[in-house]
Amino acid sequence: MSFWWNTVAVPILGFMRRQAYPEDSVQAYTAFLRDEILPLLGPGGQTPPYPSWMTDDHTPVEFSLILGKPTQSSVRFAVETSALPLSGDRSMATLRRTLEGFTRTLKMEPKFDLTWFDICAEEMILSDEQKTVVCEDRPVSETFIAFDCGHYSTTAKVYFMPHIRCLASGETPEQMMKRATDRMGLDKPWAKISQFLSRFLPGDRPPIDIVAIDCIPETRNRLKIYFRTDLASYAQMECFLTLGGVLTDVDAGLRNARLMWDAVTSAGERTERKASYFPAALIYYELKLGSDFPSSKAYLPVRRYLPNDLVIARTVENLGLQLKDGAAVASGYADLVQKTFAHRDLSTRTGIQTYLTCTVKPGASDISIYLNPEAFAPERSAATRGPITTLKHTPLSHGDATTIASIWLREFESLLNGDEGAKFCLAADCCLRDLLVFSPTFRMLEGREAVLRHLPPKGTLHFFGFNIIGGVTFRAVNDQLRLIQGRVRFEDEARTYTVVITLASRGDSSWACWALFSVIDALKQSPSVPTAGADLNTIIIGAGQAGLATAAHLQQLGLRVCIVERSSRVGAPWRDRYDFLQFNTPKEFSHLPYLPFPEDWSMFPSARLVADHLEKYPKVLGLDVRTGMDVTRTAYDACTKTWTVYLRRVDGTETTLTSTHLVVANGVDILGGLKPNIPKLPGLSDFQGPALHSTSLRSVSDWIGKRVVVFGAGCSGHDICAALFKQGTADITMLQRSATAVISREVLLKLFPDLYTGENRPPIDVADQFYLALPTPVSKVLRSAMMKRLAVIDQDLHCNLRKQGFQLPPGESDFIERLTVRRGGFYIDQGCSGLIANGSVRVKPFSSIESLVPDGIRFADGSKLEVDIIVFATGFVPDSKPAAFLDDAIYAKTGSIGGLNKEGEVSGLWCPSGHENLWFAGGDLFNCRFYSRFLALQILQAQ
Ligand SMILES: Cc1cc2nc3c(=O)[nH]c(=O)nc-3n(C[C@H](O)[C@H](O)[C@H](O)COP(=O)(O)OP(=O)(O)OC[C@H]3O[C@@H](n4cnc5c(N)ncnc54)[C@H](O)[C@@H]3O)c2cc1C
Ligand SMILES: *[C@@H]1O[C@H](CO)[C@@H](O)[C@H](O)[C@H]1NC(C)=O
Repeated sequence: MSFWWNTVAVPILGFMRRQAYPEDSVQAYTAFLRDEILPLLGPGGQTPPYPSWMTDDHTPVEFSLILGKPTQSSVRFAVETSALPLSGDRSMATLRRTLEGFTRTLKMEPKFDLTWFDICAEEMILSDEQKTVVCEDRPVSETFIAFDCGHYSTTAKVYFMPHIRCLASGETPEQMMKRATDRMGLDKPWAKISQFLSRFLPGDRPPIDIVAIDCIPETRNRLKIYFRTDLASYAQMECFLTLGGVLTDVDAGLRNARLMWDAVTSAGERTERKASYFPAALIYYELKLGSDFPSSKAYLPVRRYLPNDLVIARTVENLGLQLKDGAAVASGYADLVQKTFAHRDLSTRTGIQTYLTCTVKPGASDISIYLNPEAFAPERSAATRGPITTLKHTPLSHGDATTIASIWLREFESLLNGDEGAKFCLAADCCLRDLLVFSPTFRMLEGREAVLRHLPPKGTLHFFGFNIIGGVTFRAVNDQLRLIQGRVRFEDEARTYTVVITLASRGDSSWACWALFSVIDALKQSPSVPTAGADLNTIIIGAGQAGLATAAHLQQLGLRVCIVERSSRVGAPWRDRYDFLQFNTPKEFSHLPYLPFPEDWSMFPSARLVADHLEKYPKVLGLDVRTGMDVTRTAYDACTKTWTVYLRRVDGTETTLTSTHLVVANGVDILGGLKPNIPKLPGLSDFQGPALHSTSLRSVSDWIGKRVVVFGAGCSGHDICAALFKQGTADITMLQRSATAVISREVLLKLFPDLYTGENRPPIDVADQFYLALPTPVSKVLRSAMMKRLAVIDQDLHCNLRKQGFQLPPGESDFIERLTVRRGGFYIDQGCSGLIANGSVRVKPFSSIESLVPDGIRFADGSKLEVDIIVFATGFVPDSKPAAFLDDAIYAKTGSIGGLNKEGEVSGLWCPSGHENLWFAGGDLFNCRFYSRFLALQILQAQ
């Protein structure tokens, strides 16, 4: 990111967004600035080699904004190119070619035309030979260019400064104007100006500074002639604006001119200035074909009248309020200027706002403010001064990315504080995943409008303290997609929050936010927790990972919590699974809060070790777990807000416990309950051998020499087949119902970016935030790009699997979605794929079965497979009422628990369930680690 990008392009694009330019146009202007304009400016940096006269600090660029309705006003900017070394030669031919080149990138309207340009160039500018003689090697400013950036099209303008040619030829600018206006057919309006000038004594005649034309056909073109004047009073200004009373139908314009004059000259704290000193103002006359009278415009150099930029900005605001359509732009104007030019405090001095102007045309008038970006201000930070790089497709430095993120953050902050105009900091397809920041539950919003509707209405919430924490990262996904990611911390009166922001620049687009992931961090003050009443604050049913992690957080927050667990030992669900079960995902991804898995464990530990760790967990953390207690029934008293939990001990005796909150963590899963799913098969009851679900399978060690069929080609199905092969089972067949995505561990580890396993990985809570930072619609795009890249690694494996009749999903599947959202239909190869590939495990499609028979399976093609044992590794059926100890009246309030709602969020888990003081928790280790903290905070808030 170059110096010019930060100082010039970012403010211009910011103003455009602010004035509700269509996104397509903003993108077109982005490309135009980046590819056409900024390169003309040469290298940035502290001291310009050839100082521009255009602004006080020699920035060769100036902006202007019309104070009108945002949708009608346009952003304009001017660039002095002729003094810049990189613009190459200074000939008019080059300038002409450059202008023509712009039409390739910008839509110019009305038609692009250089007829008047050619006349001005011939009449007012030194020829190339004269240039070498008169100017030697010094670049001189004879021209500059400007753009009137409409919402849908652009007008290019060229400004000529005739004084150098005058110096060389001895002519006066007025003589030149005479020739030029004759050639253009503007002799009549020029005569009106000449008459007016003739009233002045020769030494008092205001000089012509600049002459300008638009690059459009003559019939609609305007010739503008700028005079430098010293205006001492309003009367004098009015005299100039009306050519001494010659121009009529200018009441509207003069009313505005008066307002402007009064605002500028009578604003509160005026600078001390000598009575005799009046700063130079400009007056221009605009000449058009078909009109004998020119129109006019006055430029007041506000920076000479007023003490600092803050006073100027407030003056502009007040002035805007008095204009018919000015209020919209003027409100918040001072803020906008301060944010756009954040390199210094506005109140320190003048320099940013240069001229206030007012046009006087028959029946119409505009007031505009001109701004100097102060690229060379001493206060500019090193970040904006960085070395120049070509912008296209070059990586951003850390500093550049930080600058972009900070600029974006200021817009976002305005948006949160109710400033509608800042909404374009969000991309049109921006997503927001919100965990308890802007809403009391978990939400996923897709699209800018949906996101905006979700943000709190103006004034209802006050957010402050926006800061980027940690560094931002830059990543070029490919030529078309570049991302900046970072974390922002902010707060309101009661809480602190973190938002992970993902800014994207796609193709030629400017940076806008593509994804927001907002989470609550902490309450600033703990609410007072009642100590009397129930036995406990919270009872958690189930000492699995969900119950344990939640209890750990609740205890940390100072709440009295107890877990009741049916089994006699904690960790039973892991201990009771088949003994060859290993972690699917890396250990580092699966740590529990406060007590990570031991360092010396392998990356994919066994289920037995996990069970032991879970058993150790409450002991180390001092959690109150009461094992051997089966919950049989619960009751809620809405008046006292008390749960009564009925418990049966192993010996059959019964007891009760009471609490304010109840957390159900009995194995309720994201996918629903844990009811084994057994497919309906014709003849299943006839089958004579054992037929069991994977949940009842402990070990396969006594199945040596048996013929086994495993239904299901998910993780369990693969695990079981591999274990059978290892044990020496004689004959193994896997029955596959639908396609399974298979990847190697190598690819898996590449899919899990360095966040969890890399050398410089962040703390795990930060890693989690980044891992979840991209809501599904956004991450899908990225994942598919990533899977495309990684696909080649597993190419042979997939080819061999297909040869054996194994069904893989077509193309690159969204593996992560299967792993984390669908939680099924995938296998991370731990050896079984090789066995399928070499035929050691046979695969048959489920659809080929005709029926079961007493000693095996008959297939539709008439063949028969002899089978001793059947295992169903067919997963679970969703169960929207995951606990029998809750009665139907409760489910009537909660609705179904588990499963995904239409926003893709899990229904009822970890968030408000719909029933007062009742919560559900469950899921894999990652989910338990990440969401348990939110559940604990919600319980604390709900005291
Ligand atoms: C084959 C297989 C492999 C898996 N591999 C992984 C993996 O690699 N990584 C990963 O993160 N996840 C894995 N999972 C998923 C994950 O382990 C489970 O979803 C997880 O056990 C759910 O945790 P939980 O705390 O919600 O429930 P559970 O672990 O089921 O714990 C619920 C607890 O509640 C108790 N309980 C139930 N009813 C009552 C009652 N009425 N009264 C008292 N107590 C009660 C139970 O005894 C149990 O201890 C795997 C799951 C399976 C089946
Ligand atoms: C298939 O691969 C496994 C594991 O590499 C090996 O033990 C077995 O002998 C192979 N079988 C055949 C038929 O090649």
